[in-house]
Amino acid sequence: MRTWCGSLRLKDEGKRVLLRGWVQRVRDLGGVVFVDLRDRSGVVQLVGDRLRNVRPEWVLEVKGKVREREAKNSELPTGEVEVEVEEFRVLNTSRTPPFPVNDVIEASEEVRLRYRYIDLRRPRMQRNFLLRHRMALAVRNYLDSQGFWEIETPILTKSTPEGARDFLVPSRNYPGRFYALPQSPQLFKQILMISGFERYFQFARCFRDEDLRADRQPEFTQIDLEMSFAQERDVMEVAEGILRQSFSRAGIEIPSTIPVLSYTQAMEKYGTDAPDLRIPYEIKNLSRFPSGSNRIVASALEKGGKFLGMKIPGGLSRKQIETLEREIKSMGAAGILFLKRGDGGFSGSLRGDESWRGKIAEELGLEMRDGAIFMAGKGVEKFMGYLRKRVAEIKGVELKGFSPVWVVDFPLFELDEDGKISSNHHPFTSPREEDIEILEAEPLKVRARAYDLVVNGVEIGGGSIRIHRAELQRKILKILGVEEERFSFLLQALEHGAPPHGGIAFGFDRMVMMAAGEQSIRDVIAFPKTTSALCLLTGAPSSVDPAQLRELKIKIIS
Ligand code: AMO
Repeated sequence: MRTWCGSLRLKDEGKRVLLRGWVQRVRDLGGVVFVDLRDRSGVVQLVGDRLRNVRPEWVLEVKGKVREREAKNSELPTGEVEVEVEEFRVLNTSRTPPFPVNDVIEASEEVRLRYRYIDLRRPRMQRNFLLRHRMALAVRNYLDSQGFWEIETPILTKSTPEGARDFLVPSRNYPGRFYALPQSPQLFKQILMISGFERYFQFARCFRDEDLRADRQPEFTQIDLEMSFAQERDVMEVAEGILRQSFSRAGIEIPSTIPVLSYTQAMEKYGTDAPDLRIPYEIKNLSRFPSGSNRIVASALEKGGKFLGMKIPGGLSRKQIETLEREIKSMGAAGILFLKRGDGGFSGSLRGDESWRGKIAEELGLEMRDGAIFMAGKGVEKFMGYLRKRVAEIKGVELKGFSPVWVVDFPLFELDEDGKISSNHHPFTSPREEDIEILEAEPLKVRARAYDLVVNGVEIGGGSIRIHRAELQRKILKILGVEEERFSFLLQALEHGAPPHGGIAFGFDRMVMMAAGEQSIRDVIAFPKTTSALCLLTGAPSSVDPAQLRELKIKIIS
């Protein structure tokens, strides 16, 4: 029977073991040779003079006897023992690896992805994938215990709008027609509710052709679920269970109550709909302190803008303010104003009479030597949100732990760059009952029955109660300027006894990334794409045989 390398301890002394694994390191001390042998459980030291010719990453099978080490290594769990090799076989040799298999890595990400099989041998990566497996298992068991059934939905399907571009697959049988890879299983899961399954979930692969970032991939995994006869609170409770159960597998405890913020509150206090509540600063709306003596603020308020401020305990240096101002200007903002409360009174670019500055300082709670930054104008919330994060970074505020928050009551619609009305989430989200009457007259004021789960400033999940009446769904599609025919299959299904229903989807890769303490989702996806959407291991996307294109009746025009 095979023994795992990483399992050996002093209590195993004298045992005869069979090990299989990869050569981590060879040290030839003349008389004796030490080899570190690694399998997925860890590393153990082998001793034997016949090991002289083995090289890193060769694959060995070893029989030997466990003995106590003379020179112990307290940093290694197996550091008190070694295995005296009696017999060994080289199962395979290896080319010299492009980088050593250990956690201190100097190779570029490009080299790591090109030789992903070597990269994945690193203990840190192995740990990440063990955690991913355990989190998935915990979620499956939890959802099973709550009566959810795992049901698969198609990959070759019709476009499901989630705000990104589709990946298309040409059909050979119907030239000129295409399948779309799902951006999410949204419509299928709704149809599963109409099919009477009541509670569905799936680890669903989703595909979105969008600009990539550290927390986005063109294909990623959602924990997707849907429930019939559910209200917001029912879905949120299941979602909290998922969060709790899965993070507990990384030893992370999620607070017992998760705060709920409305979209408006989140924007006002934190300048973002995905706030990191660990950052100890809050934005305050100071628009009700109109100023005759500060022209910048007065004119911004006159034009319908807002006057926002944020206290910074201990203030900022002039240089820090200049840095922030430069950054914010490059993002399109006019600039920032600041105020400092010092021994000689107030100073800073927030000019104005003393009594007005005093009122502002009082409202913000400025103590001696505290500072504050301000912005005035339209749409300044998002800049303040950015500054809130940057000030925490600049001041080296330590952000520890996990701070989840629900954000609810999103606007149902937003205006896109061309001024066209579009869905904030997707067109199947239900408006709040009491807002339905203003749907046509004031669509931008309508609130959605949607909820996002945000952890440490990262949106890890989002969902909503859905529209279950065909008539309302038709109305929404019309407002959005979407042709009814495109979703006629959904409308027809809604007309055949659709129960009220709602659901949510988590970004599973993002969850694992956070629980593993990684900065990039690429470190928790076995074979990810680069930020330019390339698979460096296989070379995808690649050109195809002209015969294949002929068969598909596709001509490449450049
Ligand atoms: P949404 O589009 O908000 O909702 O997606 C749900 C969650 O998926 C994650 N996510 C991503 N993760 C990695 N790479 C990406 N490109 C990416 N895009 C999204 C996020 C996000 O919170 N059908 C709805 C869900 C519903 O209404 O039930 C949907 O897909 O963590």
